[in-house]
Amino acid sequence: MKFFADTADTAEIEELAATGLLDGVTTNPSLIAKSGRDFMEVTREICALVDGPVSAEVVALDHETMMKEAETLRKIADNVCIKVPLTIDGLKTCKALTGDGTMVNVTLCFSANQALLAAKAGATFVSPFVGRHDDNGFDGMELIRDIRLIYDNYLFDTEILVASVRHATHVLESARIGADVATMPPAVIKGLVKHVLTDKGIEGFLADWAKTGQKIV
Ligand code: E4P
Repeated sequence: MKFFADTADTAEIEELAATGLLDGVTTNPSLIAKSGRDFMEVTREICALVDGPVSAEVVALDHETMMKEAETLRKIADNVCIKVPLTIDGLKTCKALTGDGTMVNVTLCFSANQALLAAKAGATFVSPFVGRHDDNGFDGMELIRDIRLIYDNYLFDTEILVASVRHATHVLESARIGADVATMPPAVIKGLVKHVLTDKGIEGFLADWAKTGQKIV
């Protein structure tokens, strides 16, 4: 499963990219607003920090303007992935852009039927929002299971990009189901490495090693 960072914080992205574990980045208008940075400038910087896809979202609601915004965004770098909302105009834009070889992430997916439409529109990625789904009394992971089943039934190439990930269990379940990508806040990615028994084990080994008085040279 690929790991994307769901952030527009370049310092966090740089730190994660240095681990070699980062496969891409997703941003959205809220994350750009949170960064306080210029959209074009910060996206350009992020694209240079990672080799993989960097999702940059259009803000227009109509197909024609979405295409114009996409045109501007895709000039930023080769690894820009245009993010469009799951609406008729978004799907139309997705079809046009992917037909042209541009990566597209269809976002704000909350049903398996919507995901089916995204795949039919040739989306590179579909982003089901599991956390927001859970918040509204639905089972986010059940949605991922359904999408996996449908995509496998019809051998769709669209990658399931699990979004709105809130905790490690979302990541584990995504991997169990066979989602292609999980996009996570940096804190969630960093949290995956933590285990109390790992820390305790290191402590014990180092204490015993100190008793030997040896050094690795
Ligand atoms: C995905 O691409 C979105 O940016 C993101 O995962 C939304 O997450 P949120 O529900 O935490 O805002």
